[in-house]
Amino acid sequence: MFTKLLAAIFLALLYSSEGECVLNNHKSSRVPKEGDVRLSDSSIPSEGRVEIYHHMQWGSVCDDNWDLSDAQVVCRQLNFQGAKAAVTWGHLGQAYGRIWLDNVNCRGQEHQLVSCRSSNWGVHDCEHEEDAGVICDTQNYDSTQRTQSNSIHSLDHSTSLSDNLGKLFDSGTACDFLITFQTSTGTKQEDSAREETTTTICAHKAILMLYPYFNASVGENNITVTVNTTCQSFSTSIIRYLYTHQINVTNSSAMCLHQLASEFGLRKLLEDVGQVISKSLPNDASFYSQVSLYKYAVETKDLILRDSCIQYLAWNFQNLTRSSVWANLPLELLRVLLTRSDLVVPDEYFVLQILEGWITNNSSSLSSENQVDLLRLVRFPMIPSEKLYELETKSLLFSAHRDLYRDSVFKSYQFNFLLYSSLIESELDKENDNYRPRIYTGNTWSIAIDSSKSSPSQRLHHRYGSGSHLYSQTPPSSSQKLLHTSLHSIVVCEDNKVTWAANIFKTSNECSREGVHCNSVPAARLTQQNNNLRRNIRFENRLLLTCQNRYICQIQAFHSDMAHIDQALVYPCPDDNYIYTFVVRPEFV
Ligand SMILES: *[C@@H]1O[C@H](CO)[C@@H](O)[C@H](O)[C@H]1NC(C)=O
Ligand SMILES: *[C@@H]1O[C@H](CO)[C@@H](O)[C@H](O)[C@H]1NC(C)=O
Ligand SMILES: *[C@@H]1O[C@H](CO)[C@@H](O)[C@H](O)[C@H]1NC(C)=O
Ligand SMILES: *[C@@H]1O[C@H](CO)[C@@H](O)[C@H](O)[C@H]1NC(C)=O
Ligand SMILES: *[C@@H]1O[C@H](CO)[C@@H](O)[C@H](O)[C@H]1NC(C)=O
Ligand SMILES: *[C@@H]1O[C@H](CO)[C@@H](O)[C@H](O)[C@H]1NC(C)=O
Ligand SMILES: *[C@@H]1O[C@H](CO)[C@@H](O)[C@H](O)[C@H]1NC(C)=O
Ligand SMILES: *[C@@H]1O[C@H](CO)[C@@H](O)[C@H](O)[C@H]1NC(C)=O
Repeated sequence: MFTKLLAAIFLALLYSSEGECVLNNHKSSRVPKEGDVRLSDSSIPSEGRVEIYHHMQWGSVCDDNWDLSDAQVVCRQLNFQGAKAAVTWGHLGQAYGRIWLDNVNCRGQEHQLVSCRSSNWGVHDCEHEEDAGVICDTQNYDSTQRTQSNSIHSLDHSTSLSDNLGKLFDSGTACDFLITFQTSTGTKQEDSAREETTTTICAHKAILMLYPYFNASVGENNITVTVNTTCQSFSTSIIRYLYTHQINVTNSSAMCLHQLASEFGLRKLLEDVGQVISKSLPNDASFYSQVSLYKYAVETKDLILRDSCIQYLAWNFQNLTRSSVWANLPLELLRVLLTRSDLVVPDEYFVLQILEGWITNNSSSLSSENQVDLLRLVRFPMIPSEKLYELETKSLLFSAHRDLYRDSVFKSYQFNFLLYSSLIESELDKENDNYRPRIYTGNTWSIAIDSSKSSPSQRLHHRYGSGSHLYSQTPPSSSQKLLHTSLHSIVVCEDNKVTWAANIFKTSNECSREGVHCNSVPAARLTQQNNNLRRNIRFENRLLLTCQNRYICQIQAFHSDMAHIDQALVYPCPDDNYIYTFVVRPEFV
């Protein structure tokens, strides 16, 4: 009764101060908490520009990757039914303050925007014109409003619950369920002295009932889990996790925790530990562990870890083909890699050659259908014409798959020819990936700048023989190289050259000296020098970072010619002396 009275007074105050009877979500006088969201710049409460509260400050969210599942999370966090639209390009208003989040990637089930994957706080490559917005579904909003004005005050003190349950577990009081971790009984004969060791943990049925694996709800009161000796030492921390949903993951525990999470059916733990594991992908130059990890991720159905392995292998494909695991690569993995547009290779002819080699070596175990299946994934229209011309004599498999090759070569010539004709609009199947480039690092399409060698005296150094390099007339204050590419993949269009200037800015001084606006450094810029535009060609250029001359740790797109290097690289790199490779990619639209 007393609280109702207070609420009535509070509402009365609110109405009189606002002068109208509107209960706006974020104008309520509640003190914002870390991670709160609100919608701004709109008179309609269910839509607006998204803002998030961090470090006592509201800031905006950038629209890179902004989509409906992100909007769902924002809307539900604000007690709406769901989202109707994810709005980009600041169409629902643009802010002036901090840009807190970028590359937000929610799965859609999260309760709060802060729980979604994203770049670190304040790390972004955006302008406010890219502010993200949402339009929420108002179906249930009215009833929520009514319950609010009906004075239901939701109290949430659940944060201490985790701590208390942790204490319960630690105390072991009144436990009624035994979990025994035992090492695999010595079928491996060699160390006959090895003793079977067991760890028994006493837990609570009431908690374990939340996890079907333990069968606690069907009357079980003890189970035995078989693990190896290493993993046995993490048994307590994973059972404690069942109570608290908190756990510390280290390099040495990650594989065990992942395996146990998979066994116990703990999906969220599985995926998050998988992300820790994927940070270690660059550590093995032999590619043995990346391929085993891929197989393991498929077995444990950790799709995120699986994708991370595939991506690493696609980015470092050229070295994979030189490694000893290449010959035994699982067929399915090879097939997936060949479908990817982010496969990093010198050119498409390389793809055809290494695939022909692989198929030839494996022809005894590969059916003709499987071979054709793989060969169809080669993007023949992207193969330089002079190579197409030689295929019949140079290809290892031309005679075995004559029809496929003839057909593909014909289509490639047709594509190259059509590019010049007005027919292109109607004839080209634009959805077909065969007409999209991958990431071609040969010197026709790319140029590299080694940042560790860009001191003034060495600035003339260049890695790729025929990639031309020139410097702007004014003394350059940053590393710059010029690259000349065709408009697209064919030779006949020699006259249609495009010139690109590639720059690296390592300090903000370099940016300001060049009059470039850098949101953060280091940053890279790739600008088209001559305006040689065609309406059916759009450039989807990419920046590649090679870490320590060993592996590619990051690939990113350019926004308005700029690429800011996010400190949270996709795969870690111990220093920032990257080789920056600029890749020009004409797509046909
Ligand atoms: C739970 O019960 C099912 C069905 O009886 C059984 O197959 C499974 O092995 C049990 N789980 C454990 C961990 O013992
Ligand atoms: C485990 O439970 C079964 C019955 O559910 C019982 O027969 C068995 O003795 C128990 N084992 C231990 C170690 O408590
Ligand atoms: C994780 O490690 C920190 C620092 O050692 C410790 O304070 C914390 O209690 C640990 N958390 C869990 C869940 O073990
Ligand atoms: C124990 O299992 C984990 C997870 O599968 C694995 O990473 C580790 O190498 C294994 N340890 C031993 C000694 O076999
Ligand atoms: C854990 O792995 C990461 C990524 O491979 C590495 O950078 C880090 O140094 C490792 N930490 C330890 C303590 O080994
Ligand atoms: C094919 O097998 C031969 C002999 O085992 C080996 O030398 C060659 O490198 C293999 N080629 C490929 C592309 O795997
Ligand atoms: C390819 O051939 C190698 C031996 O050269 C074999 O070990 C491997 O299993 C084969 N791969 C497939 C997918 O058949
Ligand atoms: C690939 O392997 C070679 C030789 O081991 C190495 O020099 C090179 O840096 C590796 N990385 C890349 C991205 O090519």
